[in-house]
Amino acid sequence: MAAAPTPEMVRIRELIANDPAGGQSPTGGWDQAWKEKVTPWDAGDVQPAFRELLDERWEDVGVSLDSLKDGKALVAGCGRGCDAAFIAQHGIETVGLDLSPTAVEVARAHLAKTPDAPTNINFETGDFFKFTPPTGGFSLAFDYTFFCAINPSMRASWGKRYGEVIRPNGVLICLAFPIDGNREGGPPFSVSEEAYDAALGGDFDKIYSKQPTKLAEGRAAGRDRMLVYKRKSE
Ligand SMILES: C[S@@+](CC[C@H](N)C(=O)[O-])C[C@H]1O[C@@H](n2cnc3c(N)ncnc32)[C@H](O)[C@@H]1O
Repeated sequence: MAAAPTPEMVRIRELIANDPAGGQSPTGGWDQAWKEKVTPWDAGDVQPAFRELLDERWEDVGVSLDSLKDGKALVAGCGRGCDAAFIAQHGIETVGLDLSPTAVEVARAHLAKTPDAPTNINFETGDFFKFTPPTGGFSLAFDYTFFCAINPSMRASWGKRYGEVIRPNGVLICLAFPIDGNREGGPPFSVSEEAYDAALGGDFDKIYSKQPTKLAEGRAAGRDRMLVYKRKSE
């Protein structure tokens, strides 16, 4: 059983439900959540599991990080942008994309006051399903709490879209959350490794699946899983 929703989660669900576009209009539910500062997902820092993967476990993935540096990285639904900035700090030019103009303002302001902020990063307002990717596609993407934020009916489109915007042999890292329980009425909607596999199976091969040991503050073990997929070569 998933835990009972917090008042903040209840408010987000209300905002998304009241958005005629199901949360997918630029000034709809998500933007309103950012305006009201109802952002319980926002850790204000890099996800520890992502730090663990890039800095301690990357060898197990079997793809050289250097081989991805000639392309750009994408973090869709980037929110405050800490994970995007973390990728940029690894020497990959990064785009943090969010549907909500308020989230993008927050991300830019946060970066501006970050000591030694990377300069190879841009935060852009845009819809993941419609924005224009760089010519040739991204070499790397990171997805955390974006898959669980969209309606499950959009999951196949989500997978197809990553297949369009990531270049052949490019890498998609998914920090799967929340994989516990059977949650009704999201966001966040419950996810599972199988749901990622099903959405991505057409264009990607899974090359890594492991439980992270470094978790977000207060997070119980068993709610996250780190998954890495490689775009099939054409
Ligand atoms: C649950 S929040 C997660 C934010 C961030 N990944 C984090 O972990 O802090 C989901 C984010 O996805 C954004 N979003 C929702 N639909 C989107 C879309 N179609 N394109 C881009 N961003 C979207 C929302 O505005 C929101 O900032």
